[in-house]
Amino acid sequence: MNGKKVLIIGLGQIGYSNAEYMTMRGLAVDGYDISDKAVERAIADEVIRKKATSFAGYDYYIICISTHSPDDMFEPYLDGLFEITKKLSYEAKAGALVGIDSTVTRGTSEKIIRMLRHRLHVAHVPHRFYINEKHDHGVRQTRVLGGCDICCVEKAQQFYNEILDIPVHIVNSVEVAELCKIVENSYRFMEIAFAEELRMFCDRSGISFEELRSAVNTKWNIKVLEAKEGIGGHCLPKDSQMFLNLLKNVLDISIIEAAKKVDEQYRFHLSHQAEKVLLSTN
Ligand SMILES: NC(=O)c1ccc[n+]([C@@H]2O[C@H](COP(=O)([O-])OP(=O)(O)OC[C@H]3O[C@@H](n4cnc5c(N)ncnc54)[C@H](O)[C@@H]3O)[C@@H](O)[C@H]2O)c1
Repeated sequence: MNGKKVLIIGLGQIGYSNAEYMTMRGLAVDGYDISDKAVERAIADEVIRKKATSFAGYDYYIICISTHSPDDMFEPYLDGLFEITKKLSYEAKAGALVGIDSTVTRGTSEKIIRMLRHRLHVAHVPHRFYINEKHDHGVRQTRVLGGCDICCVEKAQQFYNEILDIPVHIVNSVEVAELCKIVENSYRFMEIAFAEELRMFCDRSGISFEELRSAVNTKWNIKVLEAKEGIGGHCLPKDSQMFLNLLKNVLDISIIEAAKKVDEQYRFHLSHQAEKVLLSTN
């Protein structure tokens, strides 16, 4: 398609899926990852053509690297992203687009465009990928798009919407796009934590959580979620921590902080329950 070349940086869950989608749409897609295994998988599955040794010569650079600490997946970590930006600033083609699909905190995209001296366009189009519902909630679903400048918005809109056929919701500042993603996941975190709190209450009060939940959910505007094994994965904990770090400078009290404590207590509650079951069966 139109002879344009894409470089996907980070070939994990969302990078791989992006590459698969873009290759399927006829774009020339190469990849880059610090993990040889991730690159080999993408080449073997023919979702990328080859590993890029240099960042020179691409029209679109799509950043999909992880943004949590290598030692603690609940901790936000952007050093890798800034390393990539340095390499882009030396090697990438002027006028190309840097699309940040990874989740980042407020102010990150502006820092990146400053590092690039606006030689490239920078937009943040946070991913909403959900592996269990790849068909409906995969690469091609409505995405929020914010750019560092009007030219960045235009370039990103052309790529994501016109070339990739992804519906986009354009916001007036890149900060809103950054905040949008971490607020979405903080909101989800809070909703799950409420279900966990309710389940702990029920377990300790001799009430059936499922019966109470089903009864409450008959009200038209209420949807108490399920309480499962605690809030896992790297997205919800890390993203809500990003939001919490921003809140700390502005507010004295946060519902997200309470939700994190509830989730910790809930995990303890589950392990305690499992121990009790083990003791009673021995
Ligand atoms: N997986 C999801 O469902 C999902 C949904 C929405 C947003 N996100 C966000 O997208 C980003 C990526 O998530 P993921 O699930 O694909 O992660 P992942 O761990 O599956 O993949 C990340 C890839 O990035 C590579 N990488 C890390 N640092 C690098 C660097 N400095 N240079 C090159 N490659 C590097 C890793 O080797 C890995 O292959 C994160 O910010 C995440 O929060 C993920």
